[in-house]
Amino acid sequence: MFNIKIQFLALIIISIAFGFLSCKHDVGSVADNGNTTGGGTNGNTGGTNNGGSNCDTNKVYFQQQVLPVLLSNCAMSGCHDAASHKEGVILTSYQSVMTTADIRSGRPFDSELYEVIIETDPRKRMPPLPNNPLSAQQIQLIYNWIQQGAQDLTCQDLCNVSNFTYGGTIKNIISNKCQGCHSGGTPQGGIDLSTYNGVKAKVDDGRLWGSVNHLAGFSPMPKNGAKLSTCELDQIKNWITAGAPNN
Ligand code: HEC
Repeated sequence: MFNIKIQFLALIIISIAFGFLSCKHDVGSVADNGNTTGGGTNGNTGGTNNGGSNCDTNKVYFQQQVLPVLLSNCAMSGCHDAASHKEGVILTSYQSVMTTADIRSGRPFDSELYEVIIETDPRKRMPPLPNNPLSAQQIQLIYNWIQQGAQDLTCQDLCNVSNFTYGGTIKNIISNKCQGCHSGGTPQGGIDLSTYNGVKAKVDDGRLWGSVNHLAGFSPMPKNGAKLSTCELDQIKNWITAGAPNN
């Protein structure tokens, strides 16, 4: 009799626990069906700016949304970059994620990548201590991405202005749009932007911000080129506001 009661109790507890889990996921599927109320459930809110764009707010764009999270939280040196490939897992591109991270398209709970980020045991969780776990929003984003079929979608208009690093984003902007002139033996204007220290010096004296924003009193940069996009400028602004870390 006593035993039966305990079993009954256990059953209730288990169903409550599962109820909880499924609630959480209903949120994800609501967003997938396009009925989102904009509460951050579709993974496109919170630091991702897609105002006035052609991007579908119900879709997760791997290239602009998921990859930056993986690059800045998992693909560091010593972890899941190509050189370190801990446990054989490389999280630096769509191709490597799909071939090494055990993604089961449409089934987040059977996907190793999702399982390890929601792991409650901090010793098993990814990213491991002393790193912080991913935010609820980032976890939801990855859930939605897998659930929607783990596709390699891209939408250039999307821009992640809060979840990025110097190494993953700012450095690329500078190397793509500035270094052609600002590196080598005789960098133009005497300004070498090929190293973090070189960039930081121009952040600190205010010339970098002034020039890329085409403010009065500065030489507009990139010289003779198109002004950086609003997204790139927002990223640079947020990075500078954060103290221009070398992360
Ligand atoms: C086509 C070559 C070229 C490119 C591309 C370029 N620069 Fe310059 N930059 C120059 C030259 C030349 C100067 C010296 C001032 C001048 O001639 O306008 C200069 C000057 C500067 C200055 C000093 C401006 C001032 O008013 O003090 C900064 C800061 C700077 N560049 C940053 C950048 C950044 C950041 C990028 C990329 C977003 C960039 N530059 C892209 C050629 C370039």
